[in-house]
Amino acid sequence: MAVVVVTSGPGSPGTTTSALALALTWPRHVLLADCDRDPSHAVLAGWLRGLDAGGRGLPSVAQAHRERRPLADELWLHTLALTGSGGVDRRFLPGFATPQAVALFDGVWGPLVDAFRALDAMGVDVVVDAGRVGPRGLAADVVAGADVVVAVTGSHLRSLAALRLHLPTVQDQLRRLPTEVPLGLCVVGPGRPYGTDEIARQFGVDVWGTLPWDARAAAVLLDGEPAPKRFEQQGFMGQARAVAQRLEERTHGLRESREALIHA
Ligand SMILES: Nc1ncnc2c1ncn2[C@@H]1O[C@H](COP(=O)(O)OP(=O)(O)OP(=O)(O)O)[C@@H](O)[C@H]1O
Ligand SMILES: [Mg+2]
Repeated sequence: MAVVVVTSGPGSPGTTTSALALALTWPRHVLLADCDRDPSHAVLAGWLRGLDAGGRGLPSVAQAHRERRPLADELWLHTLALTGSGGVDRRFLPGFATPQAVALFDGVWGPLVDAFRALDAMGVDVVVDAGRVGPRGLAADVVAGADVVVAVTGSHLRSLAALRLHLPTVQDQLRRLPTEVPLGLCVVGPGRPYGTDEIARQFGVDVWGTLPWDARAAAVLLDGEPAPKRFEQQGFMGQARAVAQRLEERTHGLRESREALIHA
């Protein structure tokens, strides 16, 4: 099981583009969960071309929680297909329907994250688009339920300066957890101008992956532009696939070593 929480500082393109690319190339069944507390419906409007979620997503999750229905049993009912049929199930949990709904969700994050973790029984991993780091970090229950946290950043100074301001809040949250939850960076557009080695050194955080700076690919993912030939195999998505593969191996490696510790 893997719960991969993707976040960023302000001005860092782009959490959603990167999380979506990972979900579309993830090597196992996967759920992309829009848990951004600054909701924008970017995936519904863009990749899903304005699809009406019909109330599914965090709104129906909140309703189920109010009605004391066990989320783990029915989480799938609150999701939509992210892609057509294929060997791998790729589902999407839409985000908040209104910005005001976020404040009412405090008691729901914990049960929702428990339901994410319970998806393991179905062989499903979860990529959480947690949006930007807020003034108090990320939702505490989301951090506590993560296997790994990935902070997305550009390689330019504006993006790095913003990350420098906000990453310590997440690092503090992670330090307070009873078990270690590793944090890594995903650099979008490395070498524009700073390279991954320098970024890793400056932050003291490993760079786990890079994605190309590719406005055309981002427009296919976020603006519903038509995909060029072999889009899913090459270029941006090819690189995303490699990052997804390494992240999946990392999270499953972590799980195995935790289980070995428990049984030792
Ligand atoms: N790899 C990329 N190459 C070029 N442009 C990109 C890339 N990733 C994202 N962008 C562009 O950056 C902008 C923001 O992207 P995105 O919505 O993914 O960021 P975000 O961090 O989720 O933003 P928000 O805070 O609004 O949720 C979009 O216009 C998108 O097209
Ligand atoms: Mg976003």
